Amino acid sequence: MIVLGIETSCDETACAIVDDTRAIRANVVLSQLDEHRPYGGVVPEVAARAHLHYLDGLIRQALDEAHLDLGQVDAIAATGGPGLIGGVIVGVMTAKAMAAARGLPFVAVNHLEGHALTARLTNDVPFPYLLLLVSGGHCQLLEVEGVGQYRRLGTTIDDAVGEAFDKTAKLLGLGYPGGPLLEKAAQKATNPSRFDLPAPMKGRPDCDFSFSGLKTAVRRHVEQLGTPTEADVADLAAAFHHAVGQSLLDRCDRAIKAFKGRHPTGKHLVVAGGVAANKYLREQLAKLAAKRGLTFTAPPLALCTDNAAMIAWAGLERFRLGQTDGLDFAPRPRWPLDPTAKPMKFAGVKA
Ligand code: KG4
Ligand code: ZN
Repeated sequence: MIVLGIETSCDETACAIVDDTRAIRANVVLSQLDEHRPYGGVVPEVAARAHLHYLDGLIRQALDEAHLDLGQVDAIAATGGPGLIGGVIVGVMTAKAMAAARGLPFVAVNHLEGHALTARLTNDVPFPYLLLLVSGGHCQLLEVEGVGQYRRLGTTIDDAVGEAFDKTAKLLGLGYPGGPLLEKAAQKATNPSRFDLPAPMKGRPDCDFSFSGLKTAVRRHVEQLGTPTEADVADLAAAFHHAVGQSLLDRCDRAIKAFKGRHPTGKHLVVAGGVAANKYLREQLAKLAAKRGLTFTAPPLALCTDNAAMIAWAGLERFRLGQTDGLDFAPRPRWPLDPTAKPMKFAGVKA
């Protein structure tokens, strides 16, 4: 079984081909960083136009890399949401056109399910598992009970964690994209305990997150410093990592208790999403999992940030369960994994 996947929900145009032996036959990602850098963030219309411009060529490239003809593909999957709607429409329309022209099944994949199921592509992790999903638009703890079966234990009440990385990096004058630049800055810290930043939500009797206060705390330090030196920035970046780590660990630990209560046989903690590429946070989470007797799985770095292999894989998982979509599928700007979870008041489309 071979599935071609398309990802266009944010600022990466991507196409990949995977099969049911969990082999990634091709994985092409075109980052639009250069297009968005002058604006310091992703501009939706610029992103949509770039997807439109590059996608056809990327699909061709993926098929060539896999030495496959479209006739050998069993299904076409595309991110159907959530995301920047112009880009999602480009991917969905392209996938539908290919499916219609070739008489192939079409699968509309929830981008978050792509992140959520990556650990099954890379490590064959069995259901159920506890998932910490940390990306630019989301920060959630979920029990993954099966394909399409999610129970949300916690979410952010304001900013997503990747958003906090990006905004803090901007405050510190590190530029865009913030996550990897902030990580690099923190590695140069000479006095990582110099600044004391609050670990948001620590000790609260739920599994929710909050990061906007942390960003404000960094801003206050920056204002006090006037013009922060490179050493100041490095120490602040390290303090930020420490605070985020403390918060994630506290929230995860609570979620682990709930997960174990409901799933006594569950043995896995999985982290996914762009922020899962962060080495410090991976190490911290691995330690927590070990302490609680869970196996820890984090995808390889290239499969943490947005890519189409995860979309092709989630498409394959749904396709082999007979869960395909009609050509009348409507792209979704908002698409929660757990539809029964209450939307967060301030999290808007990101909850
Ligand atoms: O999953 P992703 O590629 O896109 C979304 O679906 O949002 O996540 C992108 C986010 C950005 O906020 C980026 O700054 C963050 O992931 N990120 C990182 C790192 N690499 C990417 N954050 C911290 N450390 C990293 N190494
Ligand atoms: Zn993503």
